[in-house]
Amino acid sequence: PEALRAIAQRKGLRFGNAIGATRFQDPAYRALMARECNVMVAENETKWQAVQARPGKFTFAPADRMFSWARSQGMAVRGHTLVWQPAKWLPRWVNEHDFGAQPVREAERLLREHIATVCRHFGKDIYSYDVVNEAIEPATGGLRRNVFTERLGAVEQIDLAFRIAREHAPHAQLVYNDYMRWDAGSAKHRAGVLELLRALKARGTPVHALGLQSHIGSWDESAPAGADAMTEWRRFLDEATGMGLDLLITEFDVNDRKLPADAALRDAGVAALARDYLDVTLSYPRTRDLVLWGMADHASWLQSWDEAPRLDGLPMRPTPYSAQLQAKPLRAAIA
Ligand code: G3I
Repeated sequence: PEALRAIAQRKGLRFGNAIGATRFQDPAYRALMARECNVMVAENETKWQAVQARPGKFTFAPADRMFSWARSQGMAVRGHTLVWQPAKWLPRWVNEHDFGAQPVREAERLLREHIATVCRHFGKDIYSYDVVNEAIEPATGGLRRNVFTERLGAVEQIDLAFRIAREHAPHAQLVYNDYMRWDAGSAKHRAGVLELLRALKARGTPVHALGLQSHIGSWDESAPAGADAMTEWRRFLDEATGMGLDLLITEFDVNDRKLPADAALRDAGVAALARDYLDVTLSYPRTRDLVLWGMADHASWLQSWDEAPRLDGLPMRPTPYSAQLQAKPLRAAIA
């Protein structure tokens, strides 16, 4: 069949996948990715925790290896993520850092050193950055707090992160990325994201696009998707694009934990959900990229997400390819 990247290209879209260092060792999986994709993201290797696990000591080798392969295959690269807001995803040393007598300046110095070093290292090899990831508390729609927001103010810190990124990666698309979904359980999350984007736009923050993570499917809070969910989702996308923002699907997969055990039924359910979601989201001409968070079932982070496993203990089937790298109905739905 025609490669997904070729189908995407005809529509003016890029098509890609996230790959982690472990899966990167698997030549068959790499070959599948090279065949289907023209974009790659490092699943973990460009996060703060990976790049600057200790103060001032930067580690780029794992990401460099992956990106040089990506280049050799003609793939463009996205950067994920310069600042991941929840404190639990910042390195422990950052959370325990002594901010001294001038905490505002010190917070700004840490942010600047990290973002500038990463952006300068990758230069034009990265065309698009998730500058700030997950700044909104889903339950309340409020801004999350961390050691930086405590010193700088949340909107101020987010604004600063984008400005530093623009200064050191002036060529790059700068993205705010989050996991708000289309179901009723995500209403506050969506409202909070829009409020943040409005505040940034009002300040002239250089934010170019909204990243829709798009981990769709059977999450606990989801009411079944349906006409209401689609209307709300369109309203959300209308508001975001109305602010002049482009859209990217940055981490697509379909959580199937509440679908039946039977593999064929489950795969059909996953494909149907994906079709509904992608029909709406890709109908926006401003949606520029469709990036998967894993291409084959065994490679998905959902296999080890122990906060919400399948109750029957069966492996999840959230991606377009089986663990044996056979195409599943989800691939056809995406195509
Ligand atoms: O590399 C270590 C390994 O040395 C160690 O033996 C092993 C033991 O647990 O852990 C390995 O690190 C894990 C890493 O994945 C690589 O597998 C971390 O514990 C684990 O926390 C990490 O999970 C990642 C998670 O983000 C947290 O960084 C997932 O792979 C990754 O898929 C997930 O991705 C996030 C996006 O960044 C943001 N949006 C949501 C998405 C899904 O949670």
